[in-house]
Amino acid sequence: MIKKEIKDFSDIFNKIKDGCPILVCGNKDDYNAMMINWGGFGYLWDKNVAFIFVRKDRYSYNFSEKYDNFTLSFLENQSPHIKEIFGLKSGKDIDKFKASNLHPCLDIDNNMISVSEAKMVLKLKKLVSIDLEKSNYSSLIIKEFYNDKPYHMLYICEIKQFLVGE
Ligand SMILES: Cc1cc2nc3c(=O)[nH]c(=O)nc-3n(C[C@H](O)[C@H](O)[C@H](O)COP(=O)(O)O)c2cc1C
Repeated sequence: MIKKEIKDFSDIFNKIKDGCPILVCGNKDDYNAMMINWGGFGYLWDKNVAFIFVRKDRYSYNFSEKYDNFTLSFLENQSPHIKEIFGLKSGKDIDKFKASNLHPCLDIDNNMISVSEAKMVLKLKKLVSIDLEKSNYSSLIIKEFYNDKPYHMLYICEIKQFLVGE
C-alpha cells in the first residue's frame, strides 16, 4: 500500500478550509452572514452532517443561538474584498451584502437566506449545540488559539439540501 497525505483522503477537508464559505443564520427578516473556514462534514445519527464553529464574540452567535436554519454558500472565487467584508467586519456595524457585490437570496419555502452568487449551497438544520468549555480543551490549543479570547460554540447540523449553480 502507498502512504498518502491524510488530506488526500477526501476533498471535504479542503472544501471548508480553502472554500471559506459564507455562513448565514436567520430568516429573511433577521439574519447575519460571516465567513467561516473551521468545521467539517461527516455522518452521524444516520444523517449527513456539518460541524460549524461559531466564536461567542461574533455577532453571528446571536443568530446561531436564536435560529435553527443555516446556509453555507461557497463562492467560485473568494476575493480579498469579500474576505475583508465577510471575514473581518461585523454585521452589527455594517450591512455586509450592501458593502460587497454579493446579494442575499431568499429560499421562500424554508425562509432561509443564502448568497445569490454562490456556486454551491448547503442548507443546514441545527441538531445539537455544544458549548466548548475551556476545561475540555488541551492546554496546547488554549495557548495557541484562545488565551483570554472567547471560546467556540459547536453546532452539529443536518445537511438538508445540496444545491449547485447552473
Ligand atoms: C478565512 C476566515 C475564516 C473564518 N472562520 C471562522 C469560523 O470558522 N468561525 C468563526 O466564529 N469565525 C470565523 N472567522 C471570523 C469571522 O468571519 C469574523 O469575525 C466576522 O467578522 C464575524 O462577523 P459577525 O460579527 O457579523 O458575526 C473567519 C474569518 C476568516 C477571514
